[in-house]
Amino acid sequence: MEKLVALCKRRGFLFQSSEIYGGLQGFWDYGPLGVELKRNVKAAWWHDMVGGHNELVTPPGAPGTYEMTGLDCTIIMHPQVWKCSGHYDLFHDHMVDCRETRKRYRFDQVRGRWVEAKDQKIFVTTTVEADEEQADVQRRALKFFKLRPKDAESLKYDGDFATLDSVQEQEKVLGPDAKELGTLTEPREFNLMFKTTIGALGGEADTAFLRPETAQGIFVNFKNVLDSSRMRLPMGIAQIGKSFRNEITPRNFTFRSREFEQMEIEFFCHPDESHKWYSYWRDRRLQWYKDMGLSSDRLIMREHAASELAHYSVGTADIEYAFPFMAEGEYGELEGVAHRGDFDLRSHMEGKLDPKTKPMEVEKNEHGQPKHRGSGKDLSYRDDLTGEKYIPHVVEPSAGADRATLAFLCQAFSEDEQPDEKGKMQTRTVLKFHPRLAPIKAAVFPLVKKDGMPEKAKEIYGMLKEKMSTFYDEKAAVGRRYRRQDEAGTPFCITVDGDSLKEDTVTIRDRDSLKQWRVATKDLVAELTERLS
Ligand code: GAP
Repeated sequence: MEKLVALCKRRGFLFQSSEIYGGLQGFWDYGPLGVELKRNVKAAWWHDMVGGHNELVTPPGAPGTYEMTGLDCTIIMHPQVWKCSGHYDLFHDHMVDCRETRKRYRFDQVRGRWVEAKDQKIFVTTTVEADEEQADVQRRALKFFKLRPKDAESLKYDGDFATLDSVQEQEKVLGPDAKELGTLTEPREFNLMFKTTIGALGGEADTAFLRPETAQGIFVNFKNVLDSSRMRLPMGIAQIGKSFRNEITPRNFTFRSREFEQMEIEFFCHPDESHKWYSYWRDRRLQWYKDMGLSSDRLIMREHAASELAHYSVGTADIEYAFPFMAEGEYGELEGVAHRGDFDLRSHMEGKLDPKTKPMEVEKNEHGQPKHRGSGKDLSYRDDLTGEKYIPHVVEPSAGADRATLAFLCQAFSEDEQPDEKGKMQTRTVLKFHPRLAPIKAAVFPLVKKDGMPEKAKEIYGMLKEKMSTFYDEKAAVGRRYRRQDEAGTPFCITVDGDSLKEDTVTIRDRDSLKQWRVATKDLVAELTERLS
């Protein structure tokens, strides 16, 4: 992972936000190569889910045909949206503060181990990655007990790593960065929505929130889409856009950020068919990651247990990927596919529903009135063929554009041994992106900077640039130019040599197989276009 992080900075995939001022935790900027990669991820998703979807044909595994369309909603929405969606009351994590260091931690991420030495037993905590936990706990325990590294054997461990909620005696806990015992507070709720103020007056009534998900923009526009498009159910509405969560502990590069992009679909269907649509979307979305190059043995579908589900839901599954920063056997969520019943549409109609009631009822305040009033608008659907009127059920495949981009980067990173120009074996770093995702599709090089080769190469570069993202390079030996493009993940390098001038042909070199072959210049665009699709 360190090598990938270094490559991302060196080659301009990702930079820490505001780096010259020391950076801002949980915020990341995409550099010249990163912006192209992420745009390609989003474009592939939009094409495959929305733009390229054929509503006249039943896709493999689908219960029938369906329509797809898109939206682009605002980041700041009416505050009532978040009250009815449940985010105002329920979207929180538990945090603990350290009274000594003033640091704040996510309660469920503080783990530790009981350690005994010098007749004292303490619970030493840490927040580092799983594979570094033991080393960190040992280092801190030695420091606390004023022992030297050579005395590590005198530390006695009781039990395995555990989370803080298993510890009754808080006064024996050594916080993750503390020197004293018992400095961590009790866990408290912390709402993850970023607040902002609308207008110049700035009173409590003007408080608004940066959206923590793009989904709600789709629910509140459901009627607008139906009325303006004459679309029929089943149908999906997609949106790609920024979301914001004030994560207590952003970590693992872009995996958990405070500002990130989501790619969400809300799929509206008849309640009787929602089970089949849920299964379809779950499988369809897993297959998409495989089609885009993630290897099957690093992907899992984790179905939530029935006890974890709200009673109105027939299922939720997380598509997870074995990110290299996770411990062996652990996976990180790429996307959640959830069956949400009619919870969202009914909450925006009637007022926030209480998901614990069955059938669901509007949650009431102490005066017996709705705790959070809905819009009062009718968000039900009337089937013009059958005349049936119903509140659609929703299946929600919700993906993260940054997490997907990170997974594609992790999957693509590879090192092999290849001979350099002098035949000496060298380590080659290569990003083996799926051609659809690669930031640069082709690079054009004149073999040498003379004899008319640069002129011919520039002509070819101009021709390719019209069709695809192309890079021109005439600096340094051709071997070094190949290496630079391997690191950028460019699938094809085109070299113009002496024969190119005589025969009007060029050499294509494949990034992964390293095979080289000649094609006529006139066939170059067609050949590359076919190989890139
Ligand atoms: N509307 C449902 C929803 O937002 P979620 O599981 O909270 O569900 C969906 O988020 C996806 O958004 C996640 O699977 C992940 O890919 C991405 N995501 C969520 N929080 C994130 C964060 N802090 N940083 C980066 N991506 C995040």
